[in-house]
Amino acid sequence: MKRLDGAIDFAKLLLAGGLATNPVTSAPTIDDLRAVAKRRLPRVAFDIVDGAADAEATAASNLADLREVLFEPRSLVDVSRPSTRTDAVGIPLEQPFVLGPCGLMRMLGHGGEKAAVRAAGDAGVPYTISSAANWSMEEIAAEATGPLWFQLYMYKGEGIVRDLVTRAKRIGAELLMVTVDLPVNGKRPRDHRNGMTIPPKVTRSNFLSAARHPSWLLSLVSGPPIGFRNLADIDLGGSRLSHQEYVNTKLINPSLTWDDLELVRQLWDGPLVIKGITTPADARLARRAGADGVIVSNHGGRQLDSTPSSIAALPRVVDAVAGDMSVGFDGGIRGGGDVVKALALGADYTLLGRAWAYGLAAGGGAGVRRAIDIVDSEVRQTLSLLGCPDVRDLDRSFVTYPARWHGQGRVVTEPRVSVDAVIEASQRGAGAPLDAEGQESR
Ligand SMILES: Cc1cc2nc3c(=O)[nH]c(=O)nc-3n(C[C@H](O)[C@H](O)[C@H](O)COP(=O)(O)O)c2cc1C
Repeated sequence: MKRLDGAIDFAKLLLAGGLATNPVTSAPTIDDLRAVAKRRLPRVAFDIVDGAADAEATAASNLADLREVLFEPRSLVDVSRPSTRTDAVGIPLEQPFVLGPCGLMRMLGHGGEKAAVRAAGDAGVPYTISSAANWSMEEIAAEATGPLWFQLYMYKGEGIVRDLVTRAKRIGAELLMVTVDLPVNGKRPRDHRNGMTIPPKVTRSNFLSAARHPSWLLSLVSGPPIGFRNLADIDLGGSRLSHQEYVNTKLINPSLTWDDLELVRQLWDGPLVIKGITTPADARLARRAGADGVIVSNHGGRQLDSTPSSIAALPRVVDAVAGDMSVGFDGGIRGGGDVVKALALGADYTLLGRAWAYGLAAGGGAGVRRAIDIVDSEVRQTLSLLGCPDVRDLDRSFVTYPARWHGQGRVVTEPRVSVDAVIEASQRGAGAPLDAEGQESR
């Protein structure tokens, strides 16, 4: 009998400890979710998320530079009740992170954005709908149970911008995020090699890998054809271009300037932030254009390669504008420790990008939820180990980081603002012109 009891106890231990584990819901880190995603997706889909621009140098340094921020822990501080509450542009947040905008999510299977927005709602984390989502903002909003933000690409034509902003208001988005680091699409070599298109096409280079993932293929063909459904009403005019080529060549607007933000500011009276800022001068221009905040971001290294990592760009932007406007951060966050580092360097809140997309690819909504829970628990644990019980108390005294991120040891020349811009600004009475430092000169 004793032996039987022992065997039962042993079986219980096995079940509790590992045998019955689900690799998604028991994944200990975001890297583990990434590994599951890599196994479960064909290369053409995994590389959409994992890949970046050109040599992927910026994407790599986003990750590497976060490791250059080292903690300075404090001992014997009461951390029995860590608080993660903060706010973004006046919007209260329970956790210091939101799900940032990622388009093309149906390419990862599991219903894409719809599964992700449900998981975000369950966790009470805001979900940012991308202009380039594979479901329309109305379709995503119909699944949402939590707060929504909307990310705007100012596509060519006032009509499209008006339409997107008006619809974002109608679905109840509480914040508008205008992404400005996409004057043209970055070159992503992995996508070229894999023959990645929207709608997807079977090519010699992706056929075998896709065929080995029948459940992914099935999820791709269930539902409407994959496209940019926020723009579904746009008549391609008998164009023989794919939807993706059409958006890239006909809709992305390379002639945008700061003045074009005036229209958006008129249309949207709620919180408005500019995403894709990496320099103090641009941050000041964003403030002058009427934005309430900026997001320090290099688009996860998917646009201009060989720019500084996001975390290296953060301190100078914070020093330039943090007293006047909210500063968000993304780029390379793969855990709660990274969130805490960005907040210590001066960000008010952070955005997850690939971290949640790997979760989606690994296990649909359950994977997104797991990604959120991993980051949340790691934020709390890091705060406790650091001896900082409240995220709002984080500051640079909790970390050390390379002095060169303030420009030391590098030649840093602020841009001269063009004469046209100065004349235009003074004609509009939009404030004093900026000097070479990007400061207002009177
Ligand atoms: C697959 C994918 C799609 C993305 N789509 C958008 C988008 O539509 N709009 C946008 O502003 N940023 C987009 N981004 C960039 C993210 O919002 C974010 O800036 C970036 O992923 C942060 O870097 P990280 O993923 O390394 O954390 C996308 C990123 C990925 C990986």
